[in-house]
Amino acid sequence: MTKISGFSKLTKAEKIDWVCKHYLQGQDEAKSVVEQYWNSNEKLQKLHDEFAENTISNYYLPFGLAPNFIIDDKVYCIPMAIEESSVVAAASKAAKFWGNKGGFKTQVIGTTKVGQVHFSCQSEYHQLKEVFEKHKSQFFEDANEITKNMERRGGGIKNIELVNKTDQLEHYYQLHCTFETVDAMGANFINSCLEQFGKTLEKIAHDLNVEVIMCILSNYVPECLVRAEVSCPIQDLAAKAEDAKNFARRFKQAVDIANIEPYRAVTHNKGIMNGIDAVVLATGNDFRAVEAGVHAYAAKDGQYKSLTHVDIENNLFKFWIEVPIAVGTVGGLTSLHPLVKVALSILGNPSAEQLMRIIAVAGLAQNFGAVNSLVTDGIQKGHMKMHLLNILNQFEATNNEKAQAIEYFKTHSATHNAVVDFINRIRS
Ligand code: MEV
Repeated sequence: MTKISGFSKLTKAEKIDWVCKHYLQGQDEAKSVVEQYWNSNEKLQKLHDEFAENTISNYYLPFGLAPNFIIDDKVYCIPMAIEESSVVAAASKAAKFWGNKGGFKTQVIGTTKVGQVHFSCQSEYHQLKEVFEKHKSQFFEDANEITKNMERRGGGIKNIELVNKTDQLEHYYQLHCTFETVDAMGANFINSCLEQFGKTLEKIAHDLNVEVIMCILSNYVPECLVRAEVSCPIQDLAAKAEDAKNFARRFKQAVDIANIEPYRAVTHNKGIMNGIDAVVLATGNDFRAVEAGVHAYAAKDGQYKSLTHVDIENNLFKFWIEVPIAVGTVGGLTSLHPLVKVALSILGNPSAEQLMRIIAVAGLAQNFGAVNSLVTDGIQKGHMKMHLLNILNQFEATNNEKAQAIEYFKTHSATHNAVVDFINRIRS
């Protein structure tokens, strides 16, 4: 393996030649794969090249649609970018199931975003507090150039609080700042404000031995919270009353298990994130930020727990999710990536709040699909059926072979080995 300096200065072709020569034994095949993934539309390709650094190709993910979602009495077709088979199918199935039971109801609980200036101060807390309180308005004034556009759109800085953390770390304090960023995810806005706050702090507290360590938004946003819910009388959960009762009982038990058992909770929530990430990605938002915030929220009580909950009372089955979702529908990739623009158009160009609702619904629907399978047929039946096509593609099955396999595995368990045996059998 070879090291290089000045890699970023090479042209795209030179980068590809370099990686082929030093990491791919000069393989022409790998080179042509990399090139096959280029877009023939040069303008579009350039746009993608410039999203990040050292780009040599595009990495495709399937872009699918889960139609028939009724959310707050409106019909949605939800775009999802995800490679895992079953996810879009499960979402569509859950949409259909709940579609004739009133659909999904949502509520945006809050939209507050957070950022912090982390700093140390060698002086007494009371001195720092006095200076902070005396000059608090200065922070707002000094950030005026940054905030005026956001304020015009209805957002801005909500509050700046001085927090004493010296009981946990010597001389450590924070400015804990809250923001409203309306339809923008707001990362640049928040970070720009915070860096200005850092400068203002050094200015007003110059006699107090203050040292700003860092200024950065937090992806933990427990007050940027959305809830989505479905409910129906227990008897509507299955055709036979006994089955419906059993299903409700087993479903609740499964969710309760995820609430007290972290090993299960992590997988349970992973299934939720299958739905959430797919919509976050399709709509050009930062899924790492959402992931980090959601998992921190799942552990907010000191133990990692389920993000969804079930309640059965007076014969009513109620299933809901509460998740922090900080996303935007303006700025960033949302206005740059052509497919993201299409995704947002499919959703009716939602506001950030509407998108929060849609994303929470996608997570809840996904969890319903997964837990439904788990407590009934088991996950593998549906999963392997969907996976069947992937295995067939791995073996470069012809259309005719695929048709035979799909027919055969309607009545046989589609394990990996069984599919491989079947292909070998029909080929010999
Ligand atoms: C697989 O991607 C997701 C599941 O494991 C989720 C779950 O177990 O709830 C099926």
